[in-house]
Amino acid sequence: MKKEIAFIFDLDGVIVDTAKYHYLAWKNLANSLGFDFTEKNNELLKGVSRVKSLEILLNIGNVQLSEEKKQTLLVQKNTEYLGYVNKMTSDEILPGVNELLNFLDTNNIKYALGSASKNAPLILEKVGLLNRFSAIVDGNDVSKAKPDPEVFLIGAKKLHIKPENCVVFEDAIAGIEAANRANMISVGIGEKEVLGEATFVFENMAVITTDFLKNLIN
Ligand code: BG6
Ligand code: MG
Repeated sequence: MKKEIAFIFDLDGVIVDTAKYHYLAWKNLANSLGFDFTEKNNELLKGVSRVKSLEILLNIGNVQLSEEKKQTLLVQKNTEYLGYVNKMTSDEILPGVNELLNFLDTNNIKYALGSASKNAPLILEKVGLLNRFSAIVDGNDVSKAKPDPEVFLIGAKKLHIKPENCVVFEDAIAGIEAANRANMISVGIGEKEVLGEATFVFENMAVITTDFLKNLIN
């Protein structure tokens, strides 16, 4: 008999590549404040909440602002970001994702989303994946950001699966730490050098084999 197991997916960098849109919006914001924001700087924002991202960005530019101004900038950034998101289609689902979800459906394995993004449901809707997840946990549901395990623990609860029987797919260091702290199996999507703390690491979703998945679920 198959063991009771569930999968939890991060969104940005695992299901879709929205990091490029976050980057454009943050870069334009930085430029409007008079400093530059590089792609390397952008790595620091992966998996990080919107509010924390602004703090990091302002630190890089050495800019101090009032709370009121920060709120205005958060809205400005998100408005630009949503402009890109609203144009997204299913073409932007990363290679390998559909195959993986099809495999899970065929094998009756439940899966949830565990994302820091408050825009997660909209993005899933745009790419046509919203109705495929048994549960969605996003930036609106959590009080503690990754690397806190809260987002994944809520996901496990919603799926009615014990944390130790959950497999998390993540591209951010903070996300791998969150999964490990939740006592889940962590699968890093990206570079081994960066995601070394993960139980398994794959360069991208497309190179994950059916054999690997079968081993996980049996
Ligand atoms: C995470 C991204 O998934 O969501 C971060 O990796 C982003 O880069 C965070 O800042 C919050 O996203 P949003 O859509 O709520 O601004
Ligand atoms: Mg991510």
